[in-house]
Amino acid sequence: MSDVHAETELVTHDAHGTTVQGMFDRIAPGYDRANRWMSLWTDVRWRRRAVEALALSDCGTEQPNVLDLCAGTMDSSVAIHHKYPQASIIAGDFSAGMLDAGRHKLVGPVGERIEPRVMDAHALPVADASQHGLFCAFGVRNVSDLALATSEQARVLKPGGRLVILEFFRPAGLLARGAHGVLGATILPAIGWLATGDMTAYRYLPKSIHGFNDAETYGELLGDHGFDDVQITPLTLGLAWIVSARRRDPS
Ligand SMILES: C[S@@+](CC[C@H](N)C(=O)[O-])C[C@H]1O[C@@H](n2cnc3c(N)ncnc32)[C@H](O)[C@@H]1O
Repeated sequence: MSDVHAETELVTHDAHGTTVQGMFDRIAPGYDRANRWMSLWTDVRWRRRAVEALALSDCGTEQPNVLDLCAGTMDSSVAIHHKYPQASIIAGDFSAGMLDAGRHKLVGPVGERIEPRVMDAHALPVADASQHGLFCAFGVRNVSDLALATSEQARVLKPGGRLVILEFFRPAGLLARGAHGVLGATILPAIGWLATGDMTAYRYLPKSIHGFNDAETYGELLGDHGFDDVQITPLTLGLAWIVSARRRDPS
């Protein structure tokens, strides 16, 4: 298999996108290690729970199409495959370095079901109403224009298809806010640096969380961009959240 980097260099939406893309390209080789160390392997459980919320068994086909957006090193794509082995999964990300770092996971049947593709969340190279499910773990917090990215997600989903977002939303409760604040300023950047050699990226993490919506506000935004049946589930005392929603029938 050729590597994604050699195939495509993607021009991002704006300067923020270029910075984020460069940051993930840089930390890609140590990214999975950092996730496991920082979450004490809890991220694996969070992804598994979020994948269940795709509810693809109810989508009316044996072979659903799923876009794993901001797929990074494709841990979620692989988790989606394990839960729904017949699904055709596009793993989309604008960091070719992240996709390349996860390529070793695509061996055997999993490699036949997951197609890594370099793409920007603001202009998805995916046909209208072509996806039965859209999954995005720890991605939407990074996009430059959340409204545009959300409209793109609505565009590519079939009516009735589910959007599942796993994310660190801005904490609402005092306990989660305190835990995020302390961990984000101390232990997490240190672990991130040990795992990847890059401190800047892991200083960006708490800033991006505190600059983002809380889960309720994000759920309202989905309602304004073509979704209904919004469901919000806190994980581990609100450290992370699953927000899922159904694509409304536009007609
Ligand atoms: C924190 S990582 C999450 C990766 C993976 N989903 C996971 O759960 O480990 C965020 C990913 O989003 C990607 N990303 C951020 N903004 C993006 C955009 N505008 N378009 C496509 N990918 C983007 C980054 O390159 C990075 O791989």
